[in-house]
Amino acid sequence: MFTSDCLNVNDKGHLTIGGVDTLDLAARHGTPVLVMDEAQVRENCRAYTSSIAQYYGGHGMALYASKAFSCKEICRIAKEEGLGLDVVSGGELYTALAADFPPQRIYFHGNNKSPAELAMALEAGVGYIVVDNMQEIELLEDVAAKRGATPQVLLRIKPGVEAHTHEFIRTGQIDSKFGFALETGEAMAAAHAVAQTQHLSLVGIHCHIGSQIFDVAPFELAAEVLLGFVAKVKDELGIEMSQLNLGGGIGIKYLPDDNAPSYTVYFEHVARMIETQCAALGLQKPYLLLEPGRSIPGPAGITLYTVGNVKEIPDVRTYVAVDGGMGDNPRYMMYGAKYTLLNAGKAGEDATETYTVAGRYCESGDLLAEHTKIQPLQPGDVLAVLSTGAYNYSMALNYNRVPKPPVVMVRDGDSRVIVRGESLEDMARLDV
Ligand code: LLP
Repeated sequence: MFTSDCLNVNDKGHLTIGGVDTLDLAARHGTPVLVMDEAQVRENCRAYTSSIAQYYGGHGMALYASKAFSCKEICRIAKEEGLGLDVVSGGELYTALAADFPPQRIYFHGNNKSPAELAMALEAGVGYIVVDNMQEIELLEDVAAKRGATPQVLLRIKPGVEAHTHEFIRTGQIDSKFGFALETGEAMAAAHAVAQTQHLSLVGIHCHIGSQIFDVAPFELAAEVLLGFVAKVKDELGIEMSQLNLGGGIGIKYLPDDNAPSYTVYFEHVARMIETQCAALGLQKPYLLLEPGRSIPGPAGITLYTVGNVKEIPDVRTYVAVDGGMGDNPRYMMYGAKYTLLNAGKAGEDATETYTVAGRYCESGDLLAEHTKIQPLQPGDVLAVLSTGAYNYSMALNYNRVPKPPVVMVRDGDSRVIVRGESLEDMARLDV
């Protein structure tokens, strides 16, 4: 019935997260509210660290892709758990630095970083810049020269590997705005260009083949393709890049039947592929980097809403309207993303009714789910949407000037606000 270990039902029949009654959370913090279980977030971090230790001799690191959910507290947790960090903007970098995240463990991504963002990264001592295009090589060289900095660089490669996932979130194929293509020789030209600069040092390659992936095979193939390129660069330029970054992408359970891959299978296969390839190509085993986003906070988060009205349209459908919607979770609207929904007060009962859950925004497409089985709902009930920890808050928006909800962290049976909810004053705060 549930999508994550941190969820359960108590003796009142209420949904609990991290052992805390969700109806109490809704009463204490109001709705909508995004609730996250700290123990689950940490456990998800440790799953990566321990798998790298077990299957790859600890010669690597997981970088938390902070685009999935960026705030100071999750940066602190990632730091404490020994992870590195993937940031893609001045804003994510600022957040990490404000949380005292060690800059040497930060990797700065992005397909169009501005000169100001690159300068900010070098000023802060960010460890690695993942360069995306030829202009950026020139730009970074220029920014580095002005500061006398010598940034370490990874090349973002399009390995041409297709992962089976939603079309909008595929990024590995040749027709992608991200990175250098292999087939066209662009990636090799980029390696030559970096090698010819005065200030940049080429230390690795990166790819990200997609998101919410359930198959291990595309990751193995990506590792094989990338190592082939490492060998070619070694031949042509005499530079052996020591870091192999396979990006993020491991899928999570949104529906109880979703078959997320096990870490054991993932790491066993990927590690074996790397070892075989390195032996065949005469390469050193590279330092392995992975960039999990979704799989760190995703399963640890749920969103609680209050039901406002239930509108039955005979022979068509029954709409249940809640006090949030596309503003705090635009994923149904953008991708038709499916979620598990529960009446938090009747979580132990069977889901017998079929509902379409609508948000409160002025947009017909503002839905959270359509024709979905949920326990009976009435105005005032608390509705829980599961697996909302990733790409919900980080993609939240203020359409209709509706304030963004707070994010609350649950730990040891208690809860604390980690991101405050916006106020009505906040809605006009920047207005001149
Ligand atoms: N590394 C890079 C370079 C990425 O572009 C991404 C995600 C990740 C790592 C993390 O991937 P993950 O482990 O989360 O799959 N907004 C979409 C997801 C977009 C993912 C973009 N890149 C969604 O809501 O499903």
